[in-house]
Amino acid sequence: MGNVKNNNVQEVRSLPRIGSPAPKFEAITTHGTLSLDDYKGSWLILFSHPADFTPVCTTEFVGFQKIYPELKKLNTELLGLSIDSVHSHIAWVRNIEENFDTKIEFPVIADLSMDVAEKYGMIMPDESTTEASRAVFVIDDKQIVRAVIYYPLTTGRNMDEMLRLVKALQTSDEHKVATPADWREGDRVIVPPALTQDGAAERMEDKNMECVDFYFCTRDL
Ligand code: BEZ
Repeated sequence: MGNVKNNNVQEVRSLPRIGSPAPKFEAITTHGTLSLDDYKGSWLILFSHPADFTPVCTTEFVGFQKIYPELKKLNTELLGLSIDSVHSHIAWVRNIEENFDTKIEFPVIADLSMDVAEKYGMIMPDESTTEASRAVFVIDDKQIVRAVIYYPLTTGRNMDEMLRLVKALQTSDEHKVATPADWREGDRVIVPPALTQDGAAERMEDKNMECVDFYFCTRDL
């Protein structure tokens, strides 16, 4: 797992933060040149993988493709990235189709210059300086970073969680609520806490919610 010291890789990077605008990019992909601006108005899962033609990444690509139709129903696009050439990406997605009967329909950035990987803090130099970590950035339709997840090289990501996360974020936006641990569509949601003493007392009487205590109230959607 290439842990070569590379002076071009800075030791300290600022990572995109939840709530901040997603860093702009323009990149060569398997679908031609794409920029962040091309995704205005859609949600986007931008994710990196360490390398083409590797087994864990292959299972992830098959997994991402499986959830892609469901993501599209949520107005959410997928965009992969690794520090490989576009030729390698093309050969790999062809190989995945041949060996795993899965046509990869989403574009993949060929980030040989590491421009995008550096902007998004996808490289963990103490893990590898030549491969991107398994990073996930959920970017909303206004191009704000809404969630960031990192997994190490050796652990494949959970596709159910990708879907659950987008659904949870969109539900919070639409209904001004929060979602509890392990929330699934159809489950009760958390009502944001009261900000005043009177508000806290009122909510205990509110028939539209169930309160265990003043700080812990849930409701159906
Ligand atoms: C893999 O995708 O199988 C993999 C890639 C880099 C390091 C370890 C595993």
